[in-house]
Amino acid sequence: MPAPRDKSSSHEPLYPCGRPLLDLPPVLDLVILGATGSIGRQALDIVRANPNRLRVAAVACHSRVDILAEELSSLAASRPDAPAPLVTVTDPAARERAAAVLGPDVRLLGAGPAALEEAVTAPDSVQVVVNGLVGAAGLAPTLAAARRGVRIALANKESLVVGGELVAREVAAGGSEVLPVDSEHAAIAQCLSGRDPGEIARLVLTASGGPFRETPAAELATVSLEQVLNHPTWKMGPKITVDSATLMNKGLEIIEAHHLFGLSYERIDAVVHPGSIVHSLVEFVDGALLAQLGTPDMRVPLQYAIAGERHWPLAGRRLDLLETGTLRFERPDTERFPCLRLAREAGEAGGAAPIVLNAANEVAVAALLEGRIRYADIPRIIAETLTDEEPGRVHDLAAALAVDARARRSATTHVARAAAAG
Ligand SMILES: NC(=O)c1ccc[n+]([C@@H]2O[C@H](COP(=O)([O-])OP(=O)(O)OC[C@H]3O[C@@H](n4cnc5c(N)ncnc54)[C@H](OP(=O)(O)O)[C@@H]3O)[C@@H](O)[C@H]2O)c1
Repeated sequence: MPAPRDKSSSHEPLYPCGRPLLDLPPVLDLVILGATGSIGRQALDIVRANPNRLRVAAVACHSRVDILAEELSSLAASRPDAPAPLVTVTDPAARERAAAVLGPDVRLLGAGPAALEEAVTAPDSVQVVVNGLVGAAGLAPTLAAARRGVRIALANKESLVVGGELVAREVAAGGSEVLPVDSEHAAIAQCLSGRDPGEIARLVLTASGGPFRETPAAELATVSLEQVLNHPTWKMGPKITVDSATLMNKGLEIIEAHHLFGLSYERIDAVVHPGSIVHSLVEFVDGALLAQLGTPDMRVPLQYAIAGERHWPLAGRRLDLLETGTLRFERPDTERFPCLRLAREAGEAGGAAPIVLNAANEVAVAALLEGRIRYADIPRIIAETLTDEEPGRVHDLAAALAVDARARRSATTHVARAAAAG
């Protein structure tokens, strides 16, 4: 008999463990949100490599229209007969330039955050929305995709950190499905394929440990931005690279795993695994452990999600086990990396806490990237912002956005204080 559902989980798991996936046509129309970013450009690579399976109905970015122009022209060259995708550029000034930069054939949608939802709703045909946006800005379009009843290949973990329960509600109502793109969650999804949820004992997320895995606590106060951005295994966008250096990324992923797989926090562990070969593991109730291994290449989990959990051919470096040799695992150090503890505590508290955690982290990371604060200020700013907000439940998107806005104002004050203190 399946085990009863986890009591600390307030909703059904988002991930369709053991349930059939959507029955989609053989050629899929995609919306790619964040098309100029690390995930978005890799999604476009996958489209170009699969001309008989994938088409692009719409793309969205914030302001980097020059990169978008390059990507769209390379897409057009790979299929001269395909219609140009609809385009959202959310930054108003960049959108003004977009028509000139992208050429007369491009069909531009509106500007501003609402245009991200428009990118999801405007195309006549959409089967898959790839959400490669960074930050809480990804939540509203995830909800729009959920309402449209499509497959959501979700890289934007902040959607679930900020609005996990809202997404679960809309996914259930809209008949959509969420397939994770994060390599850890995609690994877990593969280990769970076809399983009954009652067979799962716990999940083990692996973390590379980031660039400061072996750095003594005293030296963390003075690390440079260049060192922070020097990730040992993955090449990613700047925000997730900083999150990996603070281990906030693993904390956000623990919250993401809670919403995806519907397990309580005490059944979701994180271990440091330098080298990023084992992407994550599932322990079953009989003690058996399943893991998924591979070279660190985000196109693997991204394509797997887009394809609806199918392994399509992919050109890339293969894992050579003999070259890899030993696999090492270490306990994460929450003294040196307090963001991991802060995230777990915020996830366990639920309600407004993960929204505040995420907003404070986004503000602090942006300040670090602008050179205004130091690496070691990040956990302090997040902890201070968390104490400013009253805990409480969040019932809808408007309430979540209100908490997010308040927390950003509060975090901005703490950033200013940290910057002034030097
Ligand atoms: N990169 C990876 O390997 C990786 C791995 C696992 C998970 N993820 C997750 O995937 C998500 C994307 O990460 P990334 O590394 O691809 O980020 P990224 O390289 O910084 O790209 C972010 C994309 O989002 C767009 N964007 C940012 N803010 C926006 C806003 N307010 N409105 C509209 N568009 C906005 C950017 O547009 P502009 O370029 O025009 O600014 C860009 O297209 C994150 O949630 C991350 O945690 C990434």
